Amino acid sequence: MQRQTLVPIHYYMRGRDPSRTSVLDLACGTGRFLTFLKDNYPSARTYGVDLSPNYLKAAEENMDYFERFDMQVNGFRKLSRPRYIQASAESLPFGDRSLDVVTCVYLFHELPPEARRAAIAEVSRVLEPGGIFVWTDSLQEGDRPESAPVAALFRALFHEPYFASFLRADFEGMCAAAGLAHEATILAHLSKASVLMFQGSITIIYKLLSCFHIRRAADLRNGWGTSLFAITSVHLVNVNELDGSDLICQISYQRS
Ligand SMILES: C[S@@+](CC[C@H](N)C(=O)[O-])C[C@H]1O[C@@H](n2cnc3c(N)ncnc32)[C@H](O)[C@@H]1O
Repeated sequence: MQRQTLVPIHYYMRGRDPSRTSVLDLACGTGRFLTFLKDNYPSARTYGVDLSPNYLKAAEENMDYFERFDMQVNGFRKLSRPRYIQASAESLPFGDRSLDVVTCVYLFHELPPEARRAAIAEVSRVLEPGGIFVWTDSLQEGDRPESAPVAALFRALFHEPYFASFLRADFEGMCAAAGLAHEATILAHLSKASVLMFQGSITIIYKLLSCFHIRRAADLRNGWGTSLFAITSVHLVNVNELDGSDLICQISYQRS
């Protein structure tokens, strides 16, 4: 479900020059999501941060592979190479207000509560006004009650010491305390992607909301009922070609 992270970035990028847009993938791991970013925005200024030098090495190798593959598929096109930096999410090596987009895929369920708060404060510090933070991770308690047994199984089978506290963590509250306003959350199978904005305007998010891919219209009503928006109507528009079980919806809403 890493690819869900691309959807809000697509809308954020509209009308922007990607070569003047900076994107940090926080906890980039083996760098798969960075290859997705490069595929879509070859000229964007991208950074991959991870605590592990071994993961960063693998991320560089994966980008080498992607570049060779891309050459075969698309011919020569200039791909600006990401910068890979070993650092902790709790202490990012970027200046204040220096990045447009921060993404973070499957990190927060691994962090203890105090590290989550510190990482969110860092994201808020480095984002430009109007910049967005897209975090994608496992569903949490209450997101989709029918998936609760799967979360319990994950806890039982894998050694994830902070997963239980993650399931109950109030990310919207933590982000709000750090100055990041929650704009939207999309449930996608067993994951979800949330979009937060630092001192942003509603216009971009309106466009973003108008054609998000979602699994079921009911998710919207359930998932967003308590957010900043009151959904006034949801119309099913089309079946997503990528996956017959996904639906594209047109959403009308107003700020509550
Ligand atoms: C589950 S992996 C996810 C990797 C990648 N985002 C993905 O979707 O495949 C979690 C990653 O977080 C990194 N990590 C864990 N704690 C971190 C921290 N405090 N700061 C930065 N990276 C961290 C790990 O090294 C690992 O690469």
